[in-house]
Amino acid sequence: MRVLFASSEVFPYSKSGGLADVAHSLPLELNKICEIINITPMYKFIDKDKFNIMPFGKKFILTFGDNFYEIELFRHTDKKIDTLFVYNDILCEVDTLYGYKNDSLRFGIFSYAISKVTELLKADIVHLNDWHTALAAFILKEKKSAVKSVFTIHNLAYQGVFEKDILSILEIPKKYFNQESFEFYGKVNLLKAGIAYSDRITTVSPTYAKEIQTKEYGCGLDGFLSKYKYKLEGILNGIDTEYFNPKNDKSIKENYDVKTLNKKEKNRNLFYENLSIKNSKRPLFIFIGRLVEQKGISLIIDLLKDISKMKLEFVILGEGEKKYEVNLMLLSKKYENIHFIKGYDEGMSHKMYASANFLVMPSLFEPCGLNQMIAARYGVISIVHGIGGLKDTVFQDERKCAMGIKFDKFQKDELLNAIKKALSIFENKKNYEKIVKFDMKCNFSFAKSAKKYIKLYKEVL
Ligand code: GLC
Repeated sequence: MRVLFASSEVFPYSKSGGLADVAHSLPLELNKICEIINITPMYKFIDKDKFNIMPFGKKFILTFGDNFYEIELFRHTDKKIDTLFVYNDILCEVDTLYGYKNDSLRFGIFSYAISKVTELLKADIVHLNDWHTALAAFILKEKKSAVKSVFTIHNLAYQGVFEKDILSILEIPKKYFNQESFEFYGKVNLLKAGIAYSDRITTVSPTYAKEIQTKEYGCGLDGFLSKYKYKLEGILNGIDTEYFNPKNDKSIKENYDVKTLNKKEKNRNLFYENLSIKNSKRPLFIFIGRLVEQKGISLIIDLLKDISKMKLEFVILGEGEKKYEVNLMLLSKKYENIHFIKGYDEGMSHKMYASANFLVMPSLFEPCGLNQMIAARYGVISIVHGIGGLKDTVFQDERKCAMGIKFDKFQKDELLNAIKKALSIFENKKNYEKIVKFDMKCNFSFAKSAKKYIKLYKEVL
């Protein structure tokens, strides 16, 4: 069984969020069971020399919408996985991944290229991820291709909605501009193609699979998704447990495991030293993520005044919307125990996990979330809003992994109480360490979920 795994971002080549991590770690596990080939754009900011990305010796021309687009393929093999890179100037001559006026055409080109490569490689299945690849499901069905498609929704909030003129540009026949296919409030919704035309739909946690069929979390597509619930399934993400391993993580000073937890404290002391936090014995709370509404950053900002009075240090790492960045800059100047590191730095995030006691993750909604799993691996207890994947991975007792603190309503008081609860857990050293050790032993590898994807691939063939 040969599977082409298509994603607009793949770690370590390109990344804007969790999709890149999953597009890296899931194929690693799948490849142990079947043949996986990754496909992703050859953005110009990917350093070909650094990664040793070579020409694949294949060029072809795509013709659609009365135009033609030249494609060149590149290849890199890492840990026995081939990644194919699609180069086309419109798709790839950009400084960041998304946010361009012609994104519909850019990812239209990518989707046409994916469907062409399924033929070239004689793939049995194409696994499409998010709206950037969704059109490929439609193209394959239109061509009556034998290749089956599985479509994974990583975040329903991003749907690829564009003006009607893209129908002709992407050569989508007008007859498909209706509610059953692409039409969405008078516009064209590319994600709908993935939902309607793929053979199976998955999303990244069982709870999110249910939530997206409700008005509250359905982002306008709850009805449409409910219609296809017979082919919809929630499969929980995992993490690359070799890469996220405090025992041999090269970004941290003192490597540790469940038996050498005292070294975690050393990391924290060092981290405090670097941030010029003097002799603090206080616990470290961290937030790592994009500064956008989804991640619940507004709830945190609203609470910083209260948090500033508590016996803890709070470090926030991230970048995103200007209003949040400015607010965090000002508040971190005002309050001594609040610290803001603007930007995203993979190495810094590892240092934070290695040093922290608690992770704060109050997401408004969260399809899966990976930080809480990374946190468990590094002995950091998570404080989460109990929705989506957070509900499926954080529990208040020892029955399931991981153990943490969960609050039900997206409200200031609830988060504040959860932080207070964390402080009281920290004060009882024995209990605190028991939870940390329990969490570090949790297995969040992708192995279990990879088996579920393989089962699903076999079912569609
Ligand atoms: C998106 C979601 C996140 C999920 C990730 C990987 O970034 O917001 O919850 O973990 O995709 O599937």
